Amino acid sequence: MANSGKQRVLSGMRPTGQLHLGHYHGVLKNWLELQQEYECFFFVADWHALTTEYEDPSIIEKSVWDMVIDWLAVGVNPGAAKLFIQSRIPEHAELQLLLSMCTPLSWLERVPSYKDQQEKLSNKDLTTYGFLGYPLLQTADIIIYKAGFVPVGEDQVAHVELAREVVRRFNHLYGREADFEEKVESALKKMGKKNARLYHQLRKSYQEQGEVQSLEKAQALLESQQNISIGDRERLSGFLDGSGKAIFPEPKALLTPASKMPGLDGQKMSKSYGNTISLRENPSAVEDKLRTMPTDPARVRRTDPGEPSKCPVWSLHEVYSDKDTKDWVVDGCTSAKIGCIDCKKPLIQSVLEEQGPIRERAEEYLNDPETVRGIIADGCDAARDVARETIEEVRDAMHLVYR
Ligand code: TRP
Ligand code: SF4
Repeated sequence: MANSGKQRVLSGMRPTGQLHLGHYHGVLKNWLELQQEYECFFFVADWHALTTEYEDPSIIEKSVWDMVIDWLAVGVNPGAAKLFIQSRIPEHAELQLLLSMCTPLSWLERVPSYKDQQEKLSNKDLTTYGFLGYPLLQTADIIIYKAGFVPVGEDQVAHVELAREVVRRFNHLYGREADFEEKVESALKKMGKKNARLYHQLRKSYQEQGEVQSLEKAQALLESQQNISIGDRERLSGFLDGSGKAIFPEPKALLTPASKMPGLDGQKMSKSYGNTISLRENPSAVEDKLRTMPTDPARVRRTDPGEPSKCPVWSLHEVYSDKDTKDWVVDGCTSAKIGCIDCKKPLIQSVLEEQGPIRERAEEYLNDPETVRGIIADGCDAARDVARETIEEVRDAMHLVYR
């Protein structure tokens, strides 16, 4: 299937509980921007959730539709992005299996999250085959759509790195076609004479002088071509270093800036710290949570001046308030002109204002589950079309098609 010429972006989220404002500010707002620029695939990573929640998977079942509704409610647009559920596309699993044949065990053992998470989640037994293999499943998730970019936080960069290594090895082992050179020639024709000449020059300079910059320029040239299919782009990319067709492109991590979203206690907002406000938290609970939030411990009495930099409430003002409000807080706090309850009022209002339309839209989807199921069914169909095409190429490359 030819795509629109846009690069693909893929990202997944584990359905392991309610989404909160940290997800909104840290991840979802980023998705909203990406969906305008790229062909996006966003999926519910239910199998990934199972790697850590296998003892009690009911939380996954409870969270799947709520998560999709949260996405839709914040403005993820099913007209622009494909929204689907991982386990409905079993091709991800087939690809993981096939990749597992040529992935050294040591590559998985040295992924930092493997040991880190086992230590962090010591209440769970994560000495399983599924948990060890989970970054390879993630590799399959990414490359089955030939995604160019993967928006991830710092903790997931190593997983994209693994995907790149697996892709290189796979392309090296299986990226040979009998009529490779002819296909390269015909792909070059589609780019036009001028671009084809530039491609040849850059390839020569890379191959003969080892000019890495030329390689990068050639890759950029290929990425900018609208007239060639993904398959052709991979051939031309593989031809640059002479190894044959690159069946998979190497995905790049798009590092999402670390979420600045503070929780109710000033630490990063996270379910495991119990300091969250959920995306659709009801307004009176939002008010309660903010009203009872801790403040600068030095402000024991109303007349004691405070120091915003030592106060978790201030961290939230930094996310939600405009300059005037922030000036008012700094001035009022350090001179004890305002009390902490006053200080929290504009914050309560901002959070409620932010959540109002989200809650309303979520309500509409909650009242219309058929629409939500339809959106996911369409997204799954679209994802499956791409995944099937890739898996056929892979079976072919691995000599698994017996005619
Ligand atoms: N592993 C990711 C997480 O735990 C979720 C995920 C699964 C993902 N597959 C992915 C993210 C592919 C990006 C791309 O958050
Ligand atoms: Fe924190 Fe505001 Fe109270 Fe100062 S006035 S301590 S910033 S809540």
